[in-house]
Amino acid sequence: MDGIVALSRYPLEHPGSEAYRRLSGECARQLGETGLLNLEGFLTPGGTARLVSEVQALMPRAHYAEREDNAYGSPAAEGLPADHPCRILHPTARWGIAYHQMRGTVLEALYRWPPLREFVAAVTGHAKLYLHDDPSNALVLQIYKAGGRLAWHFDQALFSTILNLQESEAGGIFECAPNLRGPDAPCFDEVRRVLLGDSDRVQRHLASAGSFTIILGRYALHRVTTVRGPAPRISLILSYEDRPGVRMDVATRRKLFGPDAPGD
Ligand SMILES: [Fe+2]
Repeated sequence: MDGIVALSRYPLEHPGSEAYRRLSGECARQLGETGLLNLEGFLTPGGTARLVSEVQALMPRAHYAEREDNAYGSPAAEGLPADHPCRILHPTARWGIAYHQMRGTVLEALYRWPPLREFVAAVTGHAKLYLHDDPSNALVLQIYKAGGRLAWHFDQALFSTILNLQESEAGGIFECAPNLRGPDAPCFDEVRRVLLGDSDRVQRHLASAGSFTIILGRYALHRVTTVRGPAPRISLILSYEDRPGVRMDVATRRKLFGPDAPGD
């Protein structure tokens, strides 16, 4: 990954070094305290350009998805008051390119590169992390053209790992309210305040090209605001698991990535 990852700034290939211990320790502390870690300039400018050119070559095969969801990804519950957060729906509109469409690319090589996985494990407090076993969902490009957006939501996964490849000219801001709910607490009042634009817990991040973001997404309410201008916002979502063999069922895979997504 020489020339792709900024290894002089982020010494991922030298896990025994003092610089690595300092970096991973500081990143783990920041993620644990704030629920969000952002590393600027994680990719070199040349590396970012190389990955973006791969995305452009793959774009004709991208799958478009549009839907409305509540923050919890749960079915809209009948019988609840209209202002209950489970009944507040926001739209998502984006293009996606799945792992099975990225075989043989530098995007795939970067995802599979062991030092990156070991670094994410060190930062998130895991002894070992595994590649997600799903042929489509393991690595996903999310592309937001003008008008594209991602609705407020919590992730299923405890943490999410994101490489930001290209910024939009306007909009496309990553908004995040870390630690908004707990393992057993849906925190409806706090969530409603964020959904209605009435919370002081929302942070705004530019997600600049070449930066690397880890969020504790299961407890952080987050979204991408509507993109404006001709440049698409592009990010790469890398899924790592704390155990081998994790994958989704075929029906969910084809719903998310289109009818041509692989079976089992
Ligand atoms: Fe998310």
